[in-house]
Amino acid sequence: IAGHFDARDEVTSGRILNNVTSSPTGFKVALLGAAGGIGQPLALLLKKSPLIDVLNLYDIVNTPGVACDLSHIDTPCKVQGFAGAGQLGAALEGCHLVIIPAGVPRKPGMTRDDLFNTNAGIVRTLAEGVAKYCPRAVVNVISNPVNSTVPIVAEVMKARGVYDPAKLMGVTTLDVLRARTFVAEAIGVPPGSVDLPVIGGHAGITILPLLSQATPSFSFTDDEVAKLTKRIQNGGTEVVDAKAGAGSATLSMAQAALRFGESCLRGLKGDTNVLECAYVQSTVTSVPYFASKILLGRSGVEATYPLGPLSASEREGLNKLLPELKANIEKGIAFAHK
Ligand code: NAD
Ligand code: LMR
Repeated sequence: IAGHFDARDEVTSGRILNNVTSSPTGFKVALLGAAGGIGQPLALLLKKSPLIDVLNLYDIVNTPGVACDLSHIDTPCKVQGFAGAGQLGAALEGCHLVIIPAGVPRKPGMTRDDLFNTNAGIVRTLAEGVAKYCPRAVVNVISNPVNSTVPIVAEVMKARGVYDPAKLMGVTTLDVLRARTFVAEAIGVPPGSVDLPVIGGHAGITILPLLSQATPSFSFTDDEVAKLTKRIQNGGTEVVDAKAGAGSATLSMAQAALRFGESCLRGLKGDTNVLECAYVQSTVTSVPYFASKILLGRSGVEATYPLGPLSASEREGLNKLLPELKANIEKGIAFAHK
């Protein structure tokens, strides 16, 4: 992995900005799309994170109000609002982590790929900003379709000569939270006590929960595996339909993004054994981007792990998802080169 960099090299600037109450490991984080359905609850959660000294909220509208509101909360993290393209550079400069939930959400009847035409351009513009103003930051992409937006960011960074695959992740943590919750419900244990990898991508059948690797281990019947897998794959649509035109998952996504973002920061500050599933550049399968278990460390993604033993139905699911994921990736790459 090229371009290793110890994130703490730049932490000092964050400390100066917040010199009264900063923690020695504090980081500077930018949230792009901060005034939106995910952006606002995520900003609230990030404001409460002990790992963050400075939180920059960027959107095309409304961020001064959101930042002012959050700034009255009595936690050390300093919150600043930036609105409009002219302030993107100021929002990004010196950041260690950039989280991107900017873009439109689905309405009932849409696939995530239906968002491509609008969101691909938004993500490309924001990636250009990252490449220019904080090229060494870790980037967490939430904007859909994640299967395609992550390759777009990678291509923009490559074109600017600043791509470091260890620093770019598509956030699939919500799939993991859903899998943990639905499996726990099914076997009758508290959700926090279940863990399992969710691999592949972040849309429909490309989301593949590995129920055979769940802990605590449980002998699901074929019918239970089929039903649980389908519910996890359909989790986003379940929320889109329940919201009936008012958007997609925002609150659960904010929690998922907090968890993943904090894991990235814990890795950057040197915590060991920080494991998550995420959609990253990968050689684990035949496709160049793939979600699987990763190790987060000082340089970002420090390892991607092999998938481990798969059941027959998981192998079948993997074989089915690879062509679809490959097409999603190629669509993103082609867009970035247009
Ligand atoms: P939203 O419409 O409520 O908010 C999006 C925000 O992005 C708005 O505030 C908008 O002003 C802003 N925005 C638009 N163009 C921008 C630009 N060029 N620069 C900066 N900000 C810009 O939508 P939401 O519910 O917050 O969802 C955002 C995205 O996240 C959607 O694409 C959705 O599909 C995706 N999502 C992903 C996951 C996941 O698991 N990865 C989960 C839920 C939602
Ligand atoms: C989700 O999984 O909730 C998100 O990807 C939003 C969506 O469109 O389903």
